[in-house]
This record gives sequence, structure tokens and C-alpha cells, in this order.
Amino acid sequence: MGIWQCPVCAAPLDIIETGLCCSSGHQFDRAKEGYTNLLLANQKRSADPGDNRDMLSARRDFLQAGYYQPLAEEILAQCAAGGDEGLLLDIGCGEGYYLDYLLQHLPQWRGAGIDISRQALRLAGKRKMARAQLGIASSKRIPLISGLFDRIVTVFAPIDAAEIHRLLKDQGKFILVTPGAEHLHELKAEIYQQAQLHELAETPLGFVLYQQETVQFPMVFANAKDLENLLAMTPFVYKLDAKVREGLLARKSFTVQAEFLISVYQKAPNDE
Ligand SMILES: C[S@@+](CC[C@H](N)C(=O)[O-])C[C@H]1O[C@@H](n2cnc3c(N)ncnc32)[C@H](O)[C@@H]1O
Ligand SMILES: [Zn+2]
Repeated sequence: MGIWQCPVCAAPLDIIETGLCCSSGHQFDRAKEGYTNLLLANQKRSADPGDNRDMLSARRDFLQAGYYQPLAEEILAQCAAGGDEGLLLDIGCGEGYYLDYLLQHLPQWRGAGIDISRQALRLAGKRKMARAQLGIASSKRIPLISGLFDRIVTVFAPIDAAEIHRLLKDQGKFILVTPGAEHLHELKAEIYQQAQLHELAETPLGFVLYQQETVQFPMVFANAKDLENLLAMTPFVYKLDAKVREGLLARKSFTVQAEFLISVYQKAPNDE
């Protein structure tokens, strides 16, 4: 069964040789990397929305070096709990690190990833993930069929609670990863005059908290390239003074705390 719905008329989309097509004839071509562009021109606020090429390749190289693997392992444990097989969706999947990791470790599961950035899906498509379908789409209006997903995962990306509620099965779980209060604090202290702690996530409307945990671990940077990638993939890139940057990259070793909050939500019971 297909999982996508037409962004124009909301009819189910069938898989055809060149991409996806609805019964009214709206067609969406599949790119050579394997993703389909389902973002309509009137849904874009800029010509090329979402993260850009430099941020995405920095994030891919940083993640591929394994720095956030302890986080990926915890997300995997949350996805796998209580389900031997199913369908999972990664909203704001970026270049696909977490979706790829999850599907490699959950051989009975199928997955989908959406992101508003074309470059993100180009890189995600190049991963040639088995059992994954990829679409360019906004998290505010996701062209997927309602009620299909057993797990929805979002890591550091914008969410729309109503859309997630619509897409999740009644017994499904929404796994939201946000920065923990102290995430990258040593780095922020070098960059900002007054480093603020991250604010923690609030329960999205229509959901109840099922479980919450903090994942913390130190990251030791002995390699300027990895630290450079971390700087380039975060909002620090916009704030960073050239001198501070030089000083940071010249250090022989720099230890930075990673801290993530993993919040697992279920749909609130219907009180009608
Ligand atoms: C900080 S990155 C995180 C990417 C990935 N989840 C990860 O952790 O590696 C945020 C991602 O959200 C995407 N994004 C931003 N606004 C979006 C929107 N409205 N709908 C879908 N994706 C969006 C960006 O293009 C980017 O890939
Ligand atoms: Zn249509």
C-alpha cells in the first residue's frame, strides 16, 4: 500500500515508474537520488527553504564520525520497544543519519523521511536506504496518509502537533529529541557573552507524556575538522566571531558536553 497523499487534492498517490501520481492526474517526479518533491511552490517561503548545502554536509560528516551515536542508540531502543515490525516516520530527517541507523537496526520496519530542504533529501537519497521512502515536504503539512505510523521521530526539527497526531496510529509513539539544558554549553560559553541554557520541551497539544529521559555524554574533540563541522551545522555558525573561531580550532583538545532530552509521547485518550 502507498503511504503518500497528493499535496494538491489529498487523494492517495500511486507509485508509477517516474514517481507518484494521484487519480486526478497530479504527478510528482522521482529525483535520481530516489526522493520525490511534494512541496508545492505556494508552500515555500523562499526559493530554497531549510538547511543549506554547507550545513548539511557538515552535519553529515559530523554524524558519520559517530559523535551522536549514543543518541541514535537510545532512539533505536525507544522505537524498538513494544514493536517487532511497523512503519516509522522521521520528520525533518536532514541528511538521513537517524533514519538510516534505525532502519539498519530494525530489519522488519519500513520508514519514511521528510524534510523541507532539497539538499537534505539529496544526501539522504544517496544513502540508498533499504525500505525508506523520502519526500520534500513541510512539517506543517505532511503529504502522508493519516493513521499509518507506529513511530514518529523528530530530532532537532520543527514540529506541528496536529499533523503528528493525524499521522500517528492510536497506539503509536511520538519520539521527540530536543537539546538538553546543558547541550554544548562549553561551546556556547566561548561564543556568547551570556550563554543561555536551552529551554525544555513542552508536551505537544493532544499528547500525553509516556516517558522522558536525558542522554548525556562528553565529546572530546582532538581533531579540528570535527569541531569545525559541529560549528558549521549549528546556529553558532551565524554568531561566531572569526577570532573566537580561530582560537577554538587551534586547541589541541576540547571537551564538550552533549545533552539530549528524549520525550516519548502517546496520543491523549479521547475524552468524548
Ligand atoms: C537541525 S536540523 C536536524 C536534522 C536531523 N533531524 C538531524 O538531527 O540530523 C533541522 C532540519 O529541519 C529541516 N526543516 C526546517 N524547517 C522545516 C519544516 N518546516 N519542515 C520540514 N523540515 C524542516 C531542515 O531543513 C533541517 O534538515
Ligand atoms: Zn491530486
